[in-house]
Amino acid sequence: MNTPILRVEGLEISCTNKQGTEPLVHQLSFDIMGGQVFGLVGGSGSGKTLTCMSILNILGGTLAVTGGSIELCGGQLLGKSPMEMRCIRGKEIAFAMQNPMSAFNPVMTIGAHFVETIRTHIPLSKREAIKYAVDYLNQVGLANGEMLLRKYPFQLSSGMLQRVMIAMAVCLKPRLLIADEPTTALDTGCQLDILKLLDRMRNQYGMSILLVSHDFGVIAQLADEVGVMCEGRLVERASVHHIFDSPEHEYTRALLGARRQLAGKGDIHHVEGGTRSDEYVRV
Ligand SMILES: Nc1ncnc2c1ncn2[C@@H]1O[C@H](COP(=O)(O)OP(=O)(O)OP(=O)(O)O)[C@@H](O)[C@H]1O
Ligand SMILES: [Mg+2]
Repeated sequence: MNTPILRVEGLEISCTNKQGTEPLVHQLSFDIMGGQVFGLVGGSGSGKTLTCMSILNILGGTLAVTGGSIELCGGQLLGKSPMEMRCIRGKEIAFAMQNPMSAFNPVMTIGAHFVETIRTHIPLSKREAIKYAVDYLNQVGLANGEMLLRKYPFQLSSGMLQRVMIAMAVCLKPRLLIADEPTTALDTGCQLDILKLLDRMRNQYGMSILLVSHDFGVIAQLADEVGVMCEGRLVERASVHHIFDSPEHEYTRALLGARRQLAGKGDIHHVEGGTRSDEYVRV
């Protein structure tokens, strides 16, 4: 039997402070096979980002994993030392964060970030690393890469930073990419470019992707399986077609209904004819 790239089993995340312990994520289980894209959707505050952070072992302060297991290619990630996790982050698991600004050190140029990321994992000279970075910046639609590498994070728009972050995340061809709302700050054309790049990385390198998004359009473009989170719990898990065509949980139906109303297509319960997934065209 194939071993999943990522297996999350019975995950519990809690916040502990003076007031006591508050459970935030409960009994969360899912797995992602090689080359598979798992879409995680859910309302704001449902625990999607905490789940991503727990996989990378970067929860801190009052937050901690209080139960369950997280395995990468069959090996337990929980309990790994900071040093071991530093080797895994970047090369094995890459993370494109929800808030691009917080991913960058404000006093380092984009080039310093990019070159350091590349040279930590690939034996390239500084000049070769710059060329490598420019190539990946090109692939996310940033044409003037050399000039961008000389800039500081605050000199770029949030859409540009988001694209730089994705270029940095995929350039090491990780086994697993965790992409938390990777296209929220982007216009539709650029969104499509990023989704195509992610699809290419999955096809060429068998990269698996945990794709967090509020946007069912983005999920429909890329995901094979979808998990729906509500108040820290996974309430439904199914193939992307099943989720769109016959959502079973009331909360999933409400999310899809809200999206249809935003798109001016009325309430999902009154749709007749055709499958609902037909409304979302794949790349
Ligand atoms: N540092 C923290 N300390 C305490 N509680 C936190 C912290 N970060 C997040 N939470 C709480 O954990 C819950 C889940 O938060 P999380 O950021 O995972 O939501 P999300 O699903 O990613 O939401 P969004 O779609 O808005 O990004 C929320 O109730 C939030 O208030
Ligand atoms: Mg979030």
